[in-house]
Amino acid sequence: MPRLLFVCLGNICRSPAGENVMNHLLEREGLSDQFEVDSAGTAGYHIGNPPDLRMTKAAKARGIEMRGRARQVKPSDFAEFDWIFAMDRSNYADLISLRSLCEAPGAELVLFGEFCERHDDSEVPDPYYGGPEGFEKVLDLLEDGCSVFLRKWREGEVT
Ligand code: 4NP
Repeated sequence: MPRLLFVCLGNICRSPAGENVMNHLLEREGLSDQFEVDSAGTAGYHIGNPPDLRMTKAAKARGIEMRGRARQVKPSDFAEFDWIFAMDRSNYADLISLRSLCEAPGAELVLFGEFCERHDDSEVPDPYYGGPEGFEKVLDLLEDGCSVFLRKWREGEVT
């Protein structure tokens, strides 16, 4: 069973959106019981908080419910997940450091943008200090990359 972890900075905008977009696609395709999906933040500022209301509203408009509470990523996540999706390069660099603290890291760490086919972006940009278009952009990228990941999984290209 593939275990997927989405990681951003605060775990209140991008990574919970990734988790919930992926769960939405899995539910639609009847695959929910075949995956484990979670999200976390590299920073601890928002531990225990629900997703940002702006992200929740933007997702709801696309029929996606935002569930979950923020947590911070930890070294053992590298042993407990198969895929760790970093939203941007700064998250990726922080995750490389954290990985060195895990005794048995097994997870494949990638920049999520690598899975996007309809967008050239390699990063999912931080929407926190910007306007509503930033949240739409995050969802566009996540819907693109998540559906590509699932297609590759069905085709056996990723496991
Ligand atoms: P996220 O967005 O990393 O997508 O959850 C942010 C959330 C909070 C902050 C920055 C980015 N912050 O500075 O508190």
